[in-house]
Amino acid sequence: MKSKRKSGRRLTHQWICLLLLLVCAPFSYGQLPDVARTPPMGWNSWNHFAGKIDDATIRGQADAMVSSGMRDAGYLYVNIDDTWEGKRDAQGIIHPNSKFPDMKALADYVHSKGLKLGIYSSPGPKTCAGFEGSYDHEVQDAQTYAAWGVDYLKYDLCGLREIMKNSGSPEAAHKIMVNAYVKMRDALRRTGRPLVYSFCQYGNDAVWRWGAEAGANLWRTTGDIMDNYTRMADIGFGQAGLASYAGPGHWNDPDMLEVGNGGMNSDEYRTHMSLWAILAAPLLAGNDLASMSPETIALLTNREVIAIDQDSAGKQGDRVSAEGPLEIWARPLADGSKAVGLFNRHPGPMEMQVNFHDLGFRNPVKVRDVWAAKDLGSMESHKVIVPAHGVVLLRISGS
Ligand code: GLA
Repeated sequence: MKSKRKSGRRLTHQWICLLLLLVCAPFSYGQLPDVARTPPMGWNSWNHFAGKIDDATIRGQADAMVSSGMRDAGYLYVNIDDTWEGKRDAQGIIHPNSKFPDMKALADYVHSKGLKLGIYSSPGPKTCAGFEGSYDHEVQDAQTYAAWGVDYLKYDLCGLREIMKNSGSPEAAHKIMVNAYVKMRDALRRTGRPLVYSFCQYGNDAVWRWGAEAGANLWRTTGDIMDNYTRMADIGFGQAGLASYAGPGHWNDPDMLEVGNGGMNSDEYRTHMSLWAILAAPLLAGNDLASMSPETIALLTNREVIAIDQDSAGKQGDRVSAEGPLEIWARPLADGSKAVGLFNRHPGPMEMQVNFHDLGFRNPVKVRDVWAAKDLGSMESHKVIVPAHGVVLLRISGS
């Protein structure tokens, strides 16, 4: 009798637990927000404007994202980088500085264009540009961002490094860093607003191994990009071996685009776009969208290149071969085809040949030249002159 009553109570208890779980789970901060199923696309203020941004700049970029056709090509996030931050009030609530009089109104404006708004902070007391960071104010800041209607947070290690340095050991420093990123993850999830969470700590401590678990939808794998071929190529080609860490919801981030900023020629920018697409990298334009040449627009909005980047299988590509400055990279795509980049890192044109057998295809394959938007027919191998610092990007499918 006694044991029957006991097991009855246990059952009721189990039902209550299950009910609580079902009701509360969607709101608990353990739940992953369903964002960034494909690598985030958008724009970020830093590469072109650095600290010279204000409310009008951001509105202007949002306008241009629509009028240039970038929104329709898939670019979505308008991301304010460093230098928007003002002071905290007596309650500790962060306020924007005088360049951004009303962040909520700005978010509403960006949303009214069918776009989303991103913002920037640091887990340290100060950001890289010396502005107020989120240290010890994570929950408050996450709530403030959510109340403004922010959809994306780039969280840049910077100021925390001082605190990590004083921790006494690399292990302790690592712990401080991971805990800081996890703290903001939990704070963001508690808001109930699905924000994209972007780690920026320059690839330290092999972030690709622990970033996703710590809540990152994307994590920078390197230091800052610059608008020149050498730096872009060092970063891009340096991504070999990281493919297995990326997937829907969590991406390697080799940094924002420099396309259109003027420091590279068209072949070099085509290399930049092609490599980032093969890498399933976030495509965050870093130029002034309000003054783009038709050529820059064409580079940024090429539908076939974007389709490779945004492929639904979410498998990052990798290097297949390298012979001196000639590198072949390939990325498997959802429909069974492959994106293949023939990259020439030499400062003069070079002949390259790819044998499709080496890429796992048995029979002749159908070959499309993506940038030329041309079907080349069915073949077993392909020989082509690749321009200096340039690329021939192919999409190949079994025939
Ligand atoms: C760091 C980041 C950059 C940018 C600046 C802003 O250098 O890596 O992407 O956010 O800080 O200060």
